[in-house]
Amino acid sequence: MSQAEIGLIGLGVMGSNLALNIAEKGNRIAVFNRTTTRTDAFMASAGNLAAELVPAKTMEDFIASIRPPRPVIIMVKAGEPVDEQIAVLKKLMAKNDIIIDAGNANFRDTMRRFRELEGIGLTFIGMGVSGGEEGARHGPSIMVGGTPESYARVEKVLIAISAKFKGDPCCAWLGPNGAGHFVKTIHNGIEYADMQMIAEIYGVLRDGLGMKPKAIGEVFAKWNKGRLNSYLIEITAAVLAANDPKTGAPIVDVILDSAGQKGTGRWAVIEAQMMGVPATAIEAAVAARSLSAMKKERVTASAVFTKAGSNSLGDPNSLIDKLELALFAGKIAAYAQGFAVMEAASKEFSWNLPMATIARIWRAGCIIRSQFLDTIASAFEQNKGLSNLLLAPDFVTMMQGATPALRHIVARGAQEGLPLPALSSALAYFDSYRQARGTANLIQAQRDFFGAHGFKRLDAEGDFHGPWGSGN
Ligand code: 6PG
Repeated sequence: MSQAEIGLIGLGVMGSNLALNIAEKGNRIAVFNRTTTRTDAFMASAGNLAAELVPAKTMEDFIASIRPPRPVIIMVKAGEPVDEQIAVLKKLMAKNDIIIDAGNANFRDTMRRFRELEGIGLTFIGMGVSGGEEGARHGPSIMVGGTPESYARVEKVLIAISAKFKGDPCCAWLGPNGAGHFVKTIHNGIEYADMQMIAEIYGVLRDGLGMKPKAIGEVFAKWNKGRLNSYLIEITAAVLAANDPKTGAPIVDVILDSAGQKGTGRWAVIEAQMMGVPATAIEAAVAARSLSAMKKERVTASAVFTKAGSNSLGDPNSLIDKLELALFAGKIAAYAQGFAVMEAASKEFSWNLPMATIARIWRAGCIIRSQFLDTIASAFEQNKGLSNLLLAPDFVTMMQGATPALRHIVARGAQEGLPLPALSSALAYFDSYRQARGTANLIQAQRDFFGAHGFKRLDAEGDFHGPWGSGN
């Protein structure tokens, strides 16, 4: 029997689906799971694809069945389980073998693992995979970080299994060591902002206009045919149309309003803060999830304060078009922030991240996939060295057209007590970004007043202090 082209450890849903995808594209793949009953069950359910699968009962057999240099994908829970798996693998693997972490790892862990393995002659790939279970099975977006040589060994398989946008594979090598996992983290940060802004608009339609889920779903379905066309808008429409089999009520009405988070959004914000890059819409989205989880306190507070925003925004027809544009403007600002964070990281870690390629491999397969990413890719292609998406000519035009609506919705939401944290942060970011003369002159004066931190002047070079303290 010929050797496997690649191996995969961890036959959970994502791992199983990825393995089946790899097999389906005609690549022989060795599979291993710590519990062998799971491997047996997986093989039994693989149908015709079982012919391309090489199940192993021991780690030794698993390694021996792969063609050297051996690429092994590990699909286990992020964090310690990855280190445990690496510890086992490195005892069995030979020089130039490649360990590929396809989970949602913190890129700082990826950098550390890369260094550690490099020291013993092995190589490591940190691979961001987006698209959920369905994506893993039929075509995810794949963001690779590692050495070009290790990527060359697995490129054919990864390109084959990735999603395609009009025939273009949504898979690319993005840079060394932690680059792939960093880009995946920012993808998730943008995903958080996108989802939060959609939820805020849903809140306006529900609480500001008194619309029912089915009608709101129809609005999102209509928007999905226009400028907002995207996977997240599409599934929002589907979710709002679905009924609870138990009660017959719209399913969204029976779901607890407390959002989970596994940490990637928070990492995106932490890294942005560490580099001093404002990512306000992403920050607001992460904070909004945390606030959503404070259900008990919110219930208490709602009884203390007067109820705000009940069906008070008037005629839906006059507002719906504005809501669509407001969401579009907020989305542009959030993506601009995400790309600015990647730009800063690219410099900080000398990754030379290819922004246009990143936008291109996000056009299909991943959770934030959309036509809009094609426009972003073009902006980065046409404007080499673009510091912020908001400065790209097409985006200037789009923002000029959409900002008045965002301003209107944020203002009306504020008046009626409807929380719009991500949309209002996006607007404040935009207004601050395009303000030539800001207000930080006052902050500099205050800093100098209480701490003699000094300030620069508009009319002279050098560092200066104010007249305070001298009795002037
Ligand atoms: C993806 C998703 C995926 C996962 C997130 C959800 O790109 O396929 O982002 O990675 O759904 O981890 O994250 P939260 O649980 O933090 O919402």
